[in-house]
Amino acid sequence: MLEKFERYPLMFGPTPIEHLPRLTKHLGGEVDIYAKRDDCNSGLAFGGNKIRKLEYIVPDAIASNADTLVTIGGVQSNHTRQVAAVAAKLGMKCRLVQESWVPFEDAVYDRVGNILMSRVMGAEIELVDEGFDIGIRESWERALDDVRARGGKPYPIPAGASVHKFGGLGYVGFAEEVREQEAALGFAFDYIVVCTVTGSTHAGMLVGFARDGRAQRVIGIDASGTPDQTRAQVLEIAQHTAELVELGLPIADDDLVLKEEYAYPAYGIPSAETNEAIRLCARSEGMMTDPVYEGKSMQGLIDLVRIGFFPAGAKVLYAHLGGVPAINAYSYVYRNG
Ligand SMILES: Cc1ncc(COP(=O)(O)O)c(C=O)c1O
Repeated sequence: MLEKFERYPLMFGPTPIEHLPRLTKHLGGEVDIYAKRDDCNSGLAFGGNKIRKLEYIVPDAIASNADTLVTIGGVQSNHTRQVAAVAAKLGMKCRLVQESWVPFEDAVYDRVGNILMSRVMGAEIELVDEGFDIGIRESWERALDDVRARGGKPYPIPAGASVHKFGGLGYVGFAEEVREQEAALGFAFDYIVVCTVTGSTHAGMLVGFARDGRAQRVIGIDASGTPDQTRAQVLEIAQHTAELVELGLPIADDDLVLKEEYAYPAYGIPSAETNEAIRLCARSEGMMTDPVYEGKSMQGLIDLVRIGFFPAGAKVLYAHLGGVPAINAYSYVYRNG
């Protein structure tokens, strides 16, 4: 589906699919749980889902003769950290706008984890006191203007690399990669569980898995806490991406499954149940997840197994999209484990 698009390799290669037997057993053993480890996809500052998306965006950035990648996220954004790493790798400059998306007041929140790494990688960081919003932001447009005013040539990458014209392609590739791995494994997954916020991860998967009739088997777990906006953005990106890759099938609103009930109490704030899920996954499989994104999709996966959403015998693939560096900013929450 992606042959006609240029790809700049940033990942180690296809990411491993790992069986999670102890978590499977702990949850009753009737639903078989696997993880696809996109959290281990690259040597670029711990990698994650944006690295997979950026493989299809970087060729456009290089062709544009830009000298500065400009993007936006929250203070503990994984996305901005990955853009900073890619800029360093390409020999470009990086300008990051980091907004106060999370109402969390840990003393070192803006010093550790993702933002620490972005600073070490040489990104120029501007902290902006604005709340959470996955849309196009004025602060980001101002940063683009500022780079131009200083004589630079910016390349704009929106939040999560999502509403970029090529933002959905990386996760179309994820679906193709899964299909190849399924052929080798000798079975196909019945469900894929994915954390959804700015939308292009889920959107790309929708398009990729629509090809073999599994669009509705992609179960998005909203972690934005603004699910209407996230849902609309996923659908828009999926429809645009379907056209781009000439899918030849419509993507409709009812193809999009988005579970809204795990994002509480707010974007970036883990609930007691999120923390329980993080601990269960860590203690049963040694697999770390974070309090902003993957802990919530892990919480969703665990709950969906417990309430019988997946039929007995189902094989479920949890897409681990990275994000663990942010846990450092929540040290007080986990001070006793
Ligand atoms: C670790 C992690 N998981 C999930 C997501 C959600 O992906 P998307 O923004 O493409 O919906 C993000 C980024 O927002 C992330 O950093």
